[in-house]
Amino acid sequence: MARIKDQSVRDVIAAANIVDVVGLRTSLRKASGMRYMGRCPFHEERSASFSVNSDLNLYHCFGCGKGGDVVTFVRETEGLDFVGAIEWLAERFRVTLEYEESSPAADDARRKRERLYAVLDQAAAFFERHLWEGADGEPVRAYLASRGLGEAASKEFRLGLSPGDGLAGKAREKGFTADELRAAGLTNQRGRDYFPRRLMFPLADARGRIIAFQARKLLDDDPLQGKYVNSPESDLFKKSHVLYGLHLARPAIAKQDRAVVVEGNTDVIALRQAGFEPVVASMGTALTEQHLKELSRLTKRLYLCFDSDAAGEEATLRGMERAYEQGFEIRVVTLPSGQDPADAPDGFELRLGQAESYLHYRVRLELGRASDRQEGFVRAREILAKAEDSPERQEALRLVADRLDLPRETLSGIAPARGSSSGAPSSQPKKLLDAGVRLEREALAAVVAHPELVDALAGLSEEHFELGEHRRMRSSLIARLPPDPDLVPLLAELDATASTEGITKQTGTEMLLRLREKKLRRDLQGETDLARATELQAHVAKVRQALTEIS
Ligand code: UTP
Ligand code: MN
Repeated sequence: MARIKDQSVRDVIAAANIVDVVGLRTSLRKASGMRYMGRCPFHEERSASFSVNSDLNLYHCFGCGKGGDVVTFVRETEGLDFVGAIEWLAERFRVTLEYEESSPAADDARRKRERLYAVLDQAAAFFERHLWEGADGEPVRAYLASRGLGEAASKEFRLGLSPGDGLAGKAREKGFTADELRAAGLTNQRGRDYFPRRLMFPLADARGRIIAFQARKLLDDDPLQGKYVNSPESDLFKKSHVLYGLHLARPAIAKQDRAVVVEGNTDVIALRQAGFEPVVASMGTALTEQHLKELSRLTKRLYLCFDSDAAGEEATLRGMERAYEQGFEIRVVTLPSGQDPADAPDGFELRLGQAESYLHYRVRLELGRASDRQEGFVRAREILAKAEDSPERQEALRLVADRLDLPRETLSGIAPARGSSSGAPSSQPKKLLDAGVRLEREALAAVVAHPELVDALAGLSEEHFELGEHRRMRSSLIARLPPDPDLVPLLAELDATASTEGITKQTGTEMLLRLREKKLRRDLQGETDLARATELQAHVAKVRQALTEIS
C-alpha cells in the first residue's frame, strides 16, 4: 500500500469538517460557538452526551468515554485503517491525494484497482437501469414485490438486472479495456457478458465500494447452473471475506453492540426493510477468520441465525467454535425448518430474545447426536470442560443433568476451564478519577481551552503531574505541537470538559497553582533537612497568597 504524503494528510484534515462527518451518524445541535452536542453514535442514550468541537475537529462522549479527532471518528464508524480513513475523507471533501513516489509499479497497481472499482460501479448502475427503467425489468420488479422486497430497500442495496448481454459493449464504449472487464469479472473468456439474465446483488467492501456481484436465478426451474452465480474471485473479491450488507449495518452494529448473522442476502434486505439494521449475511458459508476480524471491530456479541439444515453442519459448527474461542459472546437462533428470517421479519426481535447460548446449543446438539447416555455424557463433557464458568455454562450443565437424568454431583466432576475471562466489554465505562488526578486533568483542560495559560503550565515541571499521559499532554501543550495520535482522545476529552464545566481562565490559573501547592506539600512531607523545609514552607505560603488573591 502506497504511503500518502504527509502534506496530503494535513490538507485532508484541514479540509474535513467534523460536524458534517459526525452529522452522518447522529444529529448535532449547536451549543455555543464552535461547540456542538448530540446523542452518542457509539452507544444508546437518551440524553446528549456527545460533544464536538468544530474548530479543533475533536469529539468526546461523556457517557461512554470514546473520543478522538475526525480521522479516528471515520476509522471507528467506517471500520477503516488510517490510510482508508484519509482516503474516505479525501473523497468526501474533494482533496486530491498525493502518494509518496513509492514505485512506479505500486502506483500502477493502485491506478488499476481504481479502474476496477470504477468499472464495477458503472456495471452496478447499468444493472440498476435495466431493473428499474427498462420494460425487461418489469417481471423482475414483480418478482421482488412478490417476495415483499420494496423499491426503497432494493435500491438501497443497489439490486439490479443483468440482461445477459450488452454490458461488455457499453463498458468498452466508455473506454474500459477488455483486460479491465475481465479482471473485474464482468466478462468471460470470449469477452462476452459474464452474467446471464439474472437478479444482481452487488457485494461491497467495508467502504461500500462494489467489489463483485452475486447473480440469482430468476426462474426456479432454470436448469442452468446454481441458484447463485458469483463473480470469479479476484484481487478485490474473496468470497470468504465478504459479509453481505456490512457497509450498511456497520453503524447499527456498533451502536447496538450486537450483530446478527443470517445466511441469505434476501434476509438482510428484508430485515433492514422491517427496521432491523444490525444484520449481515455470511452468504451461505461458515464464519471465517476475516469475518470475525471485521465484526470484532464493532462488537463482540453475535447472534447466529441458521435454518434448521445448516445449523448442525460441521462447517457451521467450526465457524461458531472459532468465534466462541475468540471471546465472542454467541447466541444461536435456529429457525423452524423451511423458514427464513425474511419470512417473518417483524417478529424477529422476539426470536432473538429466545436465542440460546452457544454452550447450551452445542451441548443440546451433542446430546441429540449421542446414541446412549454414556456417549452423551462424554460428548457434553468435552464441550463443557473447555468452557470457563459462567451463567451460560451453568445452564448448559443443568441441561445435561436433566437430559441424562444425572445428579448434579456427578457433573461437578466436569470442572470449568480457567483463564482470563472472555468477552471483554467493548465500550469502556467512564473512569472514575480520584481527586488528585481530576485536578491534573482539569488544569490541563483549562490550558487547552485557554492557550494563554501555556506559560503558566510551562512553569510546572513534569513531576507536578502523576499520570503518565498527563505528563505527555503537558509536554505537547508546552511545545504547542499536535499531540501523538494516541493522546488525541485525551485532548478531545479535555476540550469537551473545559467547555461543559465552563472552565474559565481564572479557574485554570487557580488549578495550576493548586497543582504547584500539592507538589510542594508532597516534597515538604519527605524533607528531613530543616533549612530546605523552611524554604519549601515559604514557597507554600507564597502560593497560598497567590490563591487568595485571585479568588
Ligand atoms: P440460500 O439458498 O439460503 O439463498 O443461500 P437466499 O439468499 O436465501 O435466496 P432465496 O431466499 O432463495 O432467494 C444463502 C446464501 O448463500 C449464498 C448466497 O449468498 C445466498 O444468499 N449462495 C447460495 C451462493 O453463494 N451460491 C449458491 O449457489 C447458493
Ligand atoms: Mn432465502
